[in-house]
Amino acid sequence: MSIEPNDEARREAVLAWGAVSLRDLPWRRTRDPWSVLVSETMLQQTQVARVIDRLPRFLERFPSPEACAAAPAGDVVDEWAGLGYNRRPLNLHRAATAMVESHGGRVPERLEDLLALPGVGPYTARAVRAFAHEVPAAVVDTNIGRVLARWDGIRLTPSRVQQRADSLAPDDQPWQWNQSLMELGALVCTKRSPSCGACPVHAWCRWRGEGDDPAVGSAAVSTPQARFEGSDRQLRGRLVDALRAGPVVRSAVAEHIAETDQDRVDRIVAGLVRDGLAVEEDETLRLP
Ligand code: ADE
Repeated sequence: MSIEPNDEARREAVLAWGAVSLRDLPWRRTRDPWSVLVSETMLQQTQVARVIDRLPRFLERFPSPEACAAAPAGDVVDEWAGLGYNRRPLNLHRAATAMVESHGGRVPERLEDLLALPGVGPYTARAVRAFAHEVPAAVVDTNIGRVLARWDGIRLTPSRVQQRADSLAPDDQPWQWNQSLMELGALVCTKRSPSCGACPVHAWCRWRGEGDDPAVGSAAVSTPQARFEGSDRQLRGRLVDALRAGPVVRSAVAEHIAETDQDRVDRIVAGLVRDGLAVEEDETLRLP
């Protein structure tokens, strides 16, 4: 991917803006790789305020990959209560186990090693590289995907958005660059009603808030969530919540999740057991 003529100006503008605009958030005060991995995992689809509230307790209980791997997976799922998407703590536990087994209990630095960890995708892997190890990486999340599409004034395909982020990322200051770009998307180049008048990159933006938004339908930019109310995901969440309180006998599951369709109940249970979020023994379900 070619380097756009104005990329150097964009880089300087974003870094200068970030130097005075980054919010003081707890995960911006640490470079500990495990803390970064946990916070970035929590921040996926969970609101910033809730993560601020819950991150300290999680890290107190599981301060390292070793401490996490030593606990039963169910304890990690239990600590995740109220944060949604229970596969995430399960994957964190699996990743911690893999780090103890293959990386001396440390969070790896190489992209391919990070990507091989359960639950770690392109976003999280690069976030750990940039925000913890402070090595070159171009993070792409929904904020950054939106910013890049608008700068270029075109819808970006999935492969193009990462290439474009790679071509923009400076060789140095990976932490500052990625945090600043993400923050620009969160505070200025927002999804709705962006503050183009206050944008440090306004002069080098092809969109500038006029006409169709190129971020709509662009890769990496969030799409509306499937309906939660009445979904299988809601029932799975209810059952995991019930299991957090203690084991549930198989015959009482329907009542616990308030679902009368027994085929559906069976499907929910089978799915959780298959995913490793529940264990069935003697007609009783419990957390792993
Ligand atoms: N969301 C995900 N990662 C973030 C970060 N590092 N800062 C703010 N919001 C985020």
